[in-house]
Amino acid sequence: MDKFLIQGGTPLEGEIAVSGSKNSALPALAASLLTGEKVVLGRIPKVRDIRTMEKLLVHTGASVRHERGVVIVEAADLSRAEAPYEVVKTMRASSLVLGPLVARCGRARVSLPGGCAIGSRPINLHVSALERLGATVRQEHGYIEAEAPNGLQGAEVSFDRITVTGTEDLLMAAVLASGETVINNAAREPEVVDLADLLTKMGALIEGAGTSTIRVKGVAKLHGATHTIIADRIEAGTFLVAGAITKGDLKVTGCVPEHLRALIAKLHDCGTKVTETAVDTLRVRGNGKMKSVDMTTEEHPGFATDLQAQFMALMTQADGIAIITETIFENRFMHAQELARMGANIRLDGRRAIVAGARPLSGAEVIASDLRASASLVLAGLAAQGETSIDRVYHIDRGYEKIEAKLAGAGARIRRVS
Ligand code: EPZ
Repeated sequence: MDKFLIQGGTPLEGEIAVSGSKNSALPALAASLLTGEKVVLGRIPKVRDIRTMEKLLVHTGASVRHERGVVIVEAADLSRAEAPYEVVKTMRASSLVLGPLVARCGRARVSLPGGCAIGSRPINLHVSALERLGATVRQEHGYIEAEAPNGLQGAEVSFDRITVTGTEDLLMAAVLASGETVINNAAREPEVVDLADLLTKMGALIEGAGTSTIRVKGVAKLHGATHTIIADRIEAGTFLVAGAITKGDLKVTGCVPEHLRALIAKLHDCGTKVTETAVDTLRVRGNGKMKSVDMTTEEHPGFATDLQAQFMALMTQADGIAIITETIFENRFMHAQELARMGANIRLDGRRAIVAGARPLSGAEVIASDLRASASLVLAGLAAQGETSIDRVYHIDRGYEKIEAKLAGAGARIRRVS
């Protein structure tokens, strides 16, 4: 199993380029099942979750080709409207094929995901939304079996709570449903907007993506399209924190500053300078002394839960007490214990983590427990004195493209060992 070895204490300098968004690429790949024509997707990140989604598309009967920096999906004949357990257990986002498969094939069989390190993460809201559109859904042998042999009917769906992939799943079902669908309490994440942009290029009629009410007028058929995925705001945010925690001077290029407002505001509050040096570039300059600030995760445009672990690593290096409240997932503090092994002073109290800083971090052997937790350990390792060894970095490979090479390019002393 691969590990990262990090010698901490080097300020990051220079530039790091951001890849395409994993969480945008996943629904975009699923959306390509909605048409028999070619869907050409640019800026698909080379990460493990994407390879898993590509395998899943192939399992359904689609063809997936990589050509000169783009991924081409052709789903002319779908022979198996199914997401098997072997795939779903390794990647929960597999449930994103539920909506497109029911819409295109009139039926789908998708494994229930099972447990997850960061919370229970059920998909009940995806299922009830499909039922509102007229699908008959049964749960049997660990699978969700959905059927709509005569097609889906548009309807008004009000989500009980905001769900990102639930909104995306429903959007993909609604574009081929007959009549109008109104999605209330929709997720407003940039990835939902990017999906709506792709679907619109494929011929869908969608209004309101990026707001909490989305209206969709169903069409009989979608056609092929070419689309470039947006920048990964979580990867960009991770690099901004890397610049801040190492007290470096780093430019993060190819990002969308608008998608990072909540993080930028918090970095300013702690005394770190972040400036927009170009429309797609943010420069972060770490400060000698940072002060602690509280942070609560929220749905977009609030502070992203996917940056909570990284921000916690940063707060271990800020003066004072920071209270970090996680409102999206019930168990997303696995990194706290590992950060504590490196010398951080963190007390957990239900959904709150109380971080007392600044305490010097010292390199240690730690274990990555999930994707973003792993990123926080890398950040802590970059700031720590001595060597940090991070085990189980397959978690980080799910969502970060060549993170060690990118960080090393900015001066970090990090290497992968097998
Ligand atoms: C998406 O997951 C992201 N994944 C996650 O990124 C991200 O953390 C999360 O949104 C929140 O921003 C992808 O986009 C592929 P939710 P998703 O449905 O859609 C509860 C990363 O690190 N809920 O918005 O699965 C759920 O348990 C990952 O890249 C239900 O109760 O998250 C959670 O508490 C991890 N029933 C809350 O809603 C449902 O049917 C929000 O989850 C669905 C969700």
